Amino acid sequence: MNDMQTFYNQLLENNKKWVAKKIDENPDFFSKLATGQKPPVLWIGCADSRVPANEIIGAMPGEVFVHRNVANMVIHTDMNMLSCLDYAVSILGVQHVIVCGHYNCGGVMAAMTDKQFGLVDNWIDHIKDVYRFNKIELDGISDLEARARRFVELNVIEQVRDLQKTAVVKAAWRNAKTPSLHGWVYDVANGLIKELITVENTNV
Ligand code: CO
Repeated sequence: MNDMQTFYNQLLENNKKWVAKKIDENPDFFSKLATGQKPPVLWIGCADSRVPANEIIGAMPGEVFVHRNVANMVIHTDMNMLSCLDYAVSILGVQHVIVCGHYNCGGVMAAMTDKQFGLVDNWIDHIKDVYRFNKIELDGISDLEARARRFVELNVIEQVRDLQKTAVVKAAWRNAKTPSLHGWVYDVANGLIKELITVENTNV
């Protein structure tokens, strides 16, 4: 068996071990989850393999509703994101929506170049808009790595602002204080999260 097959088979073995461990810790673990979900958090994160939502915040199954895409974008025509957002906010009643970006994000770095990558260019154009909105600040950072890090942060903040503009959040905020909207950045080099912005409903 080659390494890839070994790795693939290991995933299924890992699953069996994980189930056994969970049941050993709590015999009702799965039967309780099977009755339904009431997660307090919606996570909008990057698809990057180094940023696994639940793992980096120590959350259990049932605690985080997750939407991930390239560069953690909130795009107003993205039916996938909007469906997740609407279900999480309007039906599940999450208290917090977290947009979590990360340094060394391939999508954000791609948006700093004129290179063509194929289909994903259509998606990356939305990130390029964020550069344009913040061009004076970003062009003023001469160190390219520092500029990329700040671009990641500004992209997260812009996505939180885009969340605030959605009909889903506006409708929720007409009747209730929640959800709170948060922008975070995760550092893949040390595992730490930094809070960038929190937007609360001030109308209720
Ligand atoms: Co990324």
